[in-house]
Amino acid sequence: FLVLLNILGVFTYYPDGSSDGKFLYGKFPDDFIWSSATSSYQIEGAWDVDGKGESIWDRFVHTSGKVYNNDTGDVACESYYNYKTDVQLLKELGVSHYRFSVSWPRVLPNGTINDINEKGITYYNNLIDELLANDIKPMLTLYHWDLPQKLEDHGGWLNETTNDHFNDYARLCFQRFGDRVSLWITFNEPWIIVRHGYGYGIFAPGYSDAPGTKTYIAGHNLLKAHAKAWHTYDDEFRATQKGTIGITLNTGWSEPRNASIPSDVEAAERAMQFDFGWFAHPIYYGDYPDVMKWQVGNKSEAQNLTESRLPKFTPAEIESIKGTSDFMGLNFYGAGLTFNDDNNPVGPPGYDNDKATAGAIDPAWPVSGSDWLKVTPFGMRSVLNWIYTTYPNPPIYVTENGVSDRPSSKENGISDEARTFYYRHYIDEMLKAIKLDGVNVVGYTAWSLMDNFEWASGYRERFGLHWVDYDSPNKTRTAKDSAKAYSKIIADNGFID
Ligand code: NOJ
Repeated sequence: FLVLLNILGVFTYYPDGSSDGKFLYGKFPDDFIWSSATSSYQIEGAWDVDGKGESIWDRFVHTSGKVYNNDTGDVACESYYNYKTDVQLLKELGVSHYRFSVSWPRVLPNGTINDINEKGITYYNNLIDELLANDIKPMLTLYHWDLPQKLEDHGGWLNETTNDHFNDYARLCFQRFGDRVSLWITFNEPWIIVRHGYGYGIFAPGYSDAPGTKTYIAGHNLLKAHAKAWHTYDDEFRATQKGTIGITLNTGWSEPRNASIPSDVEAAERAMQFDFGWFAHPIYYGDYPDVMKWQVGNKSEAQNLTESRLPKFTPAEIESIKGTSDFMGLNFYGAGLTFNDDNNPVGPPGYDNDKATAGAIDPAWPVSGSDWLKVTPFGMRSVLNWIYTTYPNPPIYVTENGVSDRPSSKENGISDEARTFYYRHYIDEMLKAIKLDGVNVVGYTAWSLMDNFEWASGYRERFGLHWVDYDSPNKTRTAKDSAKAYSKIIADNGFID
């Protein structure tokens, strides 16, 4: 029956969660990059050690009631002390790259270039050197959410001067690390930063704003800050360092709830534009997607809300933002079913209201340890194809992909068949996108190298390829079964029939 519905075009996925009902065995291109990722705040611990400044996440987690169980990243996996162990885990996996982030307040405690914390610089120098000594190339994210609190005190991403401080910080990283780092990511997931941090208030810095104006202002500033840092690299460092620099955007895959209903198809496309196009469209074409300008701008005016809440770029800004990503970094976890939501078109200004869609899931999809994430491998192929056709065929690095669980014991946590299933099937759908559809995917990154602090969910949701014993003195890491499965994929450079 489901196959029949599929032929009728109601679904574009199969009951097994794949795009075509098959597993495509085969190899990835010879130079394909395999990687795994973490981020500073989620793993380092040592939150106030050796001169590190406070970040907005330090402040947020120290406010009771913000994070599940009041967990904090104060200690986390203590990668500040255990980085050599981490590098051995990577070596064991067989990855060629490691995606990690630098903590801005660890190198610039008050956020500005006036006060450089050399001990922080040394930590990252040591990590980079250790990686290179083990033949692993760094993929360095400049901003994975830990803004210096001192800058937040001056308005953070709502204040455009933060862009200049970010540019100084980026330049410092290019100067100090760029002799050994050639793959740079400016921002990780601006959509999450602004929607969760400036709209819903569930992530630092914790603004609850409907979500309305603040969300769009913060997003506007992030885009400009990204472009500025890209130009700094391009103008001052590219010729000598010969690296590449881009941004990492996240999106789910919005599958029309019923592909034969035009309003569902339109709603799904609109959702993609609001979630991914919001940041990708300015970067490739200079300005926000038309549908956002209409829904947030003109439509607000037509409804006598306020004036447009979507800030406008000047012609000079459009020129300077266009073309500022050498590659597209994609964080992808799962798909949802999308339909038009006309119920409340005139309600209070707010992001979801502007988007005017609602989401559903197929109850057949396997669940994960996170409410927002269902196991939907077909979405990987769909989202890659959507990027391929919506933008001028950029090289794509999958900079994150993975799945969580909430095991009741270490033993259960290590026998993680569900994670192995997830990796094999998502990676296989990526292989289809490359081999069958011609999408230019150049690398893949598993999130995460190890269990870590999952933001507002604390330590309850585990995403690691390695189990972390948070109670043990050295935060012992143990390979899960999925780590072995991922290693095999890397060693085979794909799947051998
Ligand atoms: C996206 C974020 O970049 C990362 O920090 C987070 O842990 C994972 N997704 C899982 O939610």
